Amino acid sequence: MDLLQEIQRRRTFGIISHPDAGKTTLTEKLLLFGGAIQEAGAVKSNKIKKGATSDFMEIERQRGISVSTSVLAFIYKGKKINILDTPGHKDFAEDTFRTLTAVDSVIVVIDVAKGVEAQTEKLVEVCRMRNIPMIVFINKLDREGKDAFDLLDEVEQKLGLKVVPLSFPIGMGYDFKGIYNIWEKKLNLFSGDAKQKVTDGIEFTDLDDPELDKMIGEKAAETLREELELVREVYPGFDKEAYLNSEIQPVFFGSALNNFGVKELLDCFIEIAPSPQPKMSNTRLVDSKEDKFTGFVFKIHANMDPKHRDRLAFVKIVSGIFKRNTNYLHVKHGKKMKFSSPNAFFAEKKEIVDESFPGDIVGLHDTGNFKIGDTLTEGEILEFKGVPSFSPEHFRYVNNADPMKAKQLAKGLDQLMDEGVAQLFTLDLNGRKVIGTVGALQFEVIQYRLEHEYGAKCSYENLNVHKACWVEPEDKQSEEFKEFKRVKQRYLAKDKKGQLVFLADSAFTVQMTQQKYPTVKLHFVSEFK
Ligand code: G4P
Repeated sequence: MDLLQEIQRRRTFGIISHPDAGKTTLTEKLLLFGGAIQEAGAVKSNKIKKGATSDFMEIERQRGISVSTSVLAFIYKGKKINILDTPGHKDFAEDTFRTLTAVDSVIVVIDVAKGVEAQTEKLVEVCRMRNIPMIVFINKLDREGKDAFDLLDEVEQKLGLKVVPLSFPIGMGYDFKGIYNIWEKKLNLFSGDAKQKVTDGIEFTDLDDPELDKMIGEKAAETLREELELVREVYPGFDKEAYLNSEIQPVFFGSALNNFGVKELLDCFIEIAPSPQPKMSNTRLVDSKEDKFTGFVFKIHANMDPKHRDRLAFVKIVSGIFKRNTNYLHVKHGKKMKFSSPNAFFAEKKEIVDESFPGDIVGLHDTGNFKIGDTLTEGEILEFKGVPSFSPEHFRYVNNADPMKAKQLAKGLDQLMDEGVAQLFTLDLNGRKVIGTVGALQFEVIQYRLEHEYGAKCSYENLNVHKACWVEPEDKQSEEFKEFKRVKQRYLAKDKKGQLVFLADSAFTVQMTQQKYPTVKLHFVSEFK
């Protein structure tokens, strides 16, 4: 197979949802179709225990397992499918945001009873900003839930999507009879012993066929005809280009737990979902079909064994073929590196590979050379955009609790920040260090890991910060910017890259500051140019 064929058969995507909507269950069923796992329950262990607040061991265990489940790959109908894991727990949202820079499309899972939930809104917003093609899967149809049309309305309104139903449920909960697959014009019946079975569905091009009444009952058949008529009237027809341009989002209904409606989703997905897409760099758009290899690090995972401090850097291949034992340029360091044992990921295992193609993820053993966002090329000086840091939500001063271990603390903090566990800010005024995280859980994770992996101890001190705002003055020499710096001196800090950050104590402060200094732009994301 040549490079072009390898690219065309790849689908790299992420599944996003609010916790408990059924992401893990769906992932597992998808893997079953690929023959990648033998039984259900294999992916389950990847989940952060529900309601976990301070169970470090659990977190550690999860981290270890998720090295192998970070990327789940399998072959289905000749397509190579790479699912990138996106942690559902809100405290790990930053991880998910970064993973979204490496996917070419996403599947959004929504619980039919709960509808659109907070975490789904946030994640979909990030996907919308990046124009990532999305397919929606409405799950748990075997339970009582919201009316299908109401739910479609809710998805449009709360998520700002333009939906196109490609399947439609027949009844729900106790009365759930199955789905009509609009995409393939097939009827899939859900009944007693067939629940766990994967059937191909019955072709039904003419819905007026009286056979339909016999199969699902007159009343249900009538309702289905009316509802499908309404679907035709209300929603636009499916258009692949519009989906790829993120203008419309196809919707499927089903029940992941019962493996119902999942095959329909997957069959449509492999047909319509994009193969590896071009990616913008600081110098030019890099096309996946280019011969020369390029890729970027979107995730770094610490080794589970604290005695071996090596890490695994996850590289998404953007173009060309990545080859084992070949010299590549680490653009930021201007250094040539080669990798003797790059890992490729399959359902539950990882193994050393000689070659990987665009869309694939390789895991590179790293002793501290990589940071999230780093680019590798065959020599060209370019850096991929789009692994931004978002403003953290929680902030605390970090203090050294063991004066003998200052070095260890500095090193530990440095490496944990490279991994993207949290963000570190250094105050301009006094050099004090402030850690910012997305969730409160991270503070405990950091303290625990500093102690167990680096032998350093830290304590925290509260600090009243609402948001970190990255500062962009229109003119660095302007009087306005000088005044801003003088007045806000106490609240100014540098992030790890040395960018200027204003730590604002309230939303009101952000608004007032922006009004008072209109030429000094404040951003909630670290990458804004
Ligand atoms: P998540 O990864 O999005 O957090 O969700 P997960 O797949 O773990 O599913 C959350 C719960 O919802 C699980 O139940 C799972 O079995 C259930 N579930 C998933 N899909 C369906 C479905 O189609 N129908 C129904 N009725 N339930 C579904 P749990 O009791 O929390 O976990 P478990 O004890 O089953 O493992």
